Amino acid sequence: MPQGSSPLLELTQITKAFGGVEALRGIDFALSPGEIHGLVGENGAGKSTLMKIIAGVHPEFSGRFMLDGRETRFRSTRDARAAGIAMVHQELSVAPDLSVAENVFLGVQPTNALGFVQWRRMAREAGEQLSRFGIDVDPTARLGDLPIGLQQLIEIARVLFSGARIIILDEPTSALSPPEVERLFATLRRLRDAGSAIIFISHFIEDILGISDTVTVFRNGRKVMDTAAGATIKATLIEAMIGKGREALEETYTHDVALPAPSETPVVLEASGLSLARSLNDVSFQARAGEVLGVYGFMGCGQLELARILFGKLKPDRGQLQVAGETKAFGSTADARRAGIAFVPESRRAMLFHQEPVYKNVSISILDRISSLWLKPSQEREIAMRQVEQLQIRPSAVELDLGMLSGGNQQKVALAKWLTFPPRVLVLCEPTRGMDVGAKNDVIHIIRHLREQGLAIVVLSTEPETVLSLADRIIVLKRGAVVREFTGEKISKDRLLEAA
Ligand SMILES: Nc1ncnc2c1ncn2[C@@H]1O[C@H](COP(=O)(O)OP(=O)(O)OP(=O)(O)O)[C@@H](O)[C@H]1O
Ligand SMILES: [Mg+2]
Repeated sequence: MPQGSSPLLELTQITKAFGGVEALRGIDFALSPGEIHGLVGENGAGKSTLMKIIAGVHPEFSGRFMLDGRETRFRSTRDARAAGIAMVHQELSVAPDLSVAENVFLGVQPTNALGFVQWRRMAREAGEQLSRFGIDVDPTARLGDLPIGLQQLIEIARVLFSGARIIILDEPTSALSPPEVERLFATLRRLRDAGSAIIFISHFIEDILGISDTVTVFRNGRKVMDTAAGATIKATLIEAMIGKGREALEETYTHDVALPAPSETPVVLEASGLSLARSLNDVSFQARAGEVLGVYGFMGCGQLELARILFGKLKPDRGQLQVAGETKAFGSTADARRAGIAFVPESRRAMLFHQEPVYKNVSISILDRISSLWLKPSQEREIAMRQVEQLQIRPSAVELDLGMLSGGNQQKVALAKWLTFPPRVLVLCEPTRGMDVGAKNDVIHIIRHLREQGLAIVVLSTEPETVLSLADRIIVLKRGAVVREFTGEKISKDRLLEAA
């Protein structure tokens, strides 16, 4: 907290439980004007829950909530917004069917004297705001038609330019490329210098240390550390997050990673000359049994389109795909599945059922893949229990509705779906996005385990850390073309970024 300024927001002894689950216990938290406050903690530590209390999403909690030195109680998000608090949620909360401009002005559309929405003005102003933030997009486009990363940027821009004096960003950078993160940080610093208070949540510790003035660490619903960012280092924060004795978890990608010698195992998946208007240009590669092929590139490099072609969602204009030596023409995702290709997309929301219990979400892929297999609910639960245990999903109760799990734990469920009957080829988009170091490690182990069973695994990511920690071989996509392949050599994050 900058010296001498009194807190804008001061929370004392905040406790919050969901049914039997205690999400927060005795949290003290203060925020001053002109401060960027970083918040870190493992998946399920309670970060989003506290933010939702501040933003009026959870009106029920115990403890004292002081705003501008006065005790305050929000009954709704509307109350919080009126008090100048805006939040970018961890799960994308845009309106996909509305236009870009309508999303930017959600709830605050400019109207004329008669109360009619001024569409032209709205589109123009939205376009101006977004281009100030470096986003070049048609304001009249339907938001849902844009790539996820761009949707996220638009959502962030909306909140940053909403005029709020307390801005909460719950993992805003997970879908952004390094230049976009830089642009976001520059904007955050400008807002801070103009007096806004910002809370920034991320699992990227370097980002937290780079942007924050103050850092708070949560563990198991409690605050375990409050410190000036300049007075701490990554290892200290990680230790506070996960407890002592697990320093070994510190990610290896900060050093050089040695890729293994080229694999000689059979080619399971072969793409030749895949092209798609405006997004892919003559893309060829092979994925071998027992190998993890990393596909790295900045957002918009064509990765998402490539993944969709592999899964039968998109048809290439040219080129072909072979699975185990047979040429395939996928007309649908069902065709791709029959050929043995499983897909976990970057937007897991679409693949999961938030109102259904965890075990249903796990078993759904099984029922889907082997329709002749009949499972009793008790068997479904049993299979799910095993996966939940193996993946260390917390809390481990498979009866809970999926929507009650924290973001990172929901992602493990998305992966768990494929473990019971492994496919031939597993295509994973951003498999560790939004996960803390511990959860990332769990997922890395699962993927290695699947690799050992002989699957060909394709990991597509815009995060260098993700491909470096998982891949045996890496291809780099840039503007829809393969520009580099790394195999059997030492590689660092810098070299990967350079190639992209
Ligand atoms: N609506 C809800 N109903 C029941 N339990 C919930 C609900 N929201 C959160 N929880 C529980 O509260 C705890 C804290 O969750 P929270 O989402 O705040 O974690 P987090 O620190 O944001 O984690 P992540 O990094 O994975 O996003 C978890 O155990 C979670 O399962
Ligand atoms: Mg969260």
